[in-house]
Amino acid sequence: MTRTPVNVTVTGAAGQIGYALLFRIASGHLLGPDVPVKLRLLEIPQGVKAAEGTAMELDDCAFPLLAGIDIFDDPNQGFAGANIGLLVGARPRGPGMERGDLLAANGGIFGPQGKAINDHAADDVKVLVVGNPANTNALIAQRNAPDVPADRFTAMTRLDHNRAVAQLAKKLGVTVSDVKKLTIWGNHSATQYPDVFHAEVNGENAAKALSDDAWLSDYFIPTVAKRGAAIIDARGASSAASAANAALDHVFTWTNGTADGDWTSAGVVSDGSYGVPAGLISSFPVTAKDGKFEIVQGLDINDFSRARIDASVNELVEERDAVAGLGLI
Ligand code: NAD
Ligand code: LMR
Repeated sequence: MTRTPVNVTVTGAAGQIGYALLFRIASGHLLGPDVPVKLRLLEIPQGVKAAEGTAMELDDCAFPLLAGIDIFDDPNQGFAGANIGLLVGARPRGPGMERGDLLAANGGIFGPQGKAINDHAADDVKVLVVGNPANTNALIAQRNAPDVPADRFTAMTRLDHNRAVAQLAKKLGVTVSDVKKLTIWGNHSATQYPDVFHAEVNGENAAKALSDDAWLSDYFIPTVAKRGAAIIDARGASSAASAANAALDHVFTWTNGTADGDWTSAGVVSDGSYGVPAGLISSFPVTAKDGKFEIVQGLDINDFSRARIDASVNELVEERDAVAGLGLI
C-alpha cells in the first residue's frame, strides 16, 4: 500500500541546522522508515539560492521516501498543507542588541509564521520551534494561531535532555540507554534545570547512585545548561548536528510515543502543573501517546529543585511579559 506523503515545512532550511536536518528527514529519521515525506523549505529571499543547492543534493541522494521538494520565501505558501512545521530559522543576537531587540526581531518572524500556520497548515499540524529564544518564539507563534489547538506548538529542549543523559551516563559508567526519566525544566537557556532526582539508572534512583552533591551542583547542572555556549566557543558556530538530531528525536517521540517506564523533556504549553503559570511554553517531563504529549504528573519536587525550576520559569514570565509589552502576543 502506498502511503500519502507527510508535508514537512522546514524554516531556515539553508542554515547549518537545516543542512544537518534535511537529509535525515528524507531518509526516514523524522517519522519512521516507512513514511514518505514532501519537504517544503522556507527561507528568506537571500537564503533561497543556497536552499536550491541543498535541494539539488537531496535529489542526488535518490532517497526512496522523498516524494518532493518545494522552496518558498513566503510563509503563507511555505506552510500550506503542512503536517509538521520545524521552525528553525530565527534572528540571531547581533552586536549591541539588547534582549528586547532580539525578542522584537523574532516576533517579526514568528508572529507572521504563526498566522500562516493558522491560515494554511493542515488540520493536524504539529509545530516544533528550534530557533532561539525557542520557548518564547513558540509562544509568539502559538498566540498568533488561535484556530490551532495550543498543544500543537512546542519548543525544543530535547537537545538539553540528550546532553544531560550523556553527562549522567558518562559519570556513572553506564550506557545512555540505561538512563531513564531525566527531566529538563523551564527555559532553553542557561537558567534551565536538568533534574536527576526522579531519573533512574538501571532501575536505581540516579541521585542516590551519584551520592555526589558537589558534582551535581558544580559540574552537571552548569555543564548541561551552558553546553550551547561551550560549543559556540569551541566550534565558532552553534550546535548544528546535535540540534538537528534532537529535533528528529522530538518529533519521532511525539508521533511514535515514549517507551513504557520512561519519559522525555519538551517545551509544551503549561496547564499550571508544578506551579508553572498556565499558557507559558516551558520544559516539563512528558510522555507521548497517540500523537499527544502529556505532562507527567505527581512528582515530588524537593527544595533544591523548586528553587531552580522557579528561577527558570521566572525568566520565561519575564520574556512573556516583554513580548506582551511589545504587542507581539
Ligand atoms: P543559521 O544562521 O546557520 O541558519 C538560520 C537560517 O534561517 C538562515 O539560512 C536564514 O536565512 C534563515 N532565516 C532567517 N530568518 C528566516 C525567516 N524569517 N524565515 C525563514 N528562514 C529564515 O542558524 P542555525 O545554526 O541553523 O540555527 C538556527 C536557530 O536554532 C538559531 O536561532 C539557534 O540559536 C537555534 N538553536 C536552537 C537550539 C535548541 O536546542 N533549541 C539548538 C541549537 C541552535
Ligand atoms: C544550543 O543549545 O546549542 C543553542 O541553543 C545555542 C545557541 O545560542 O544557539
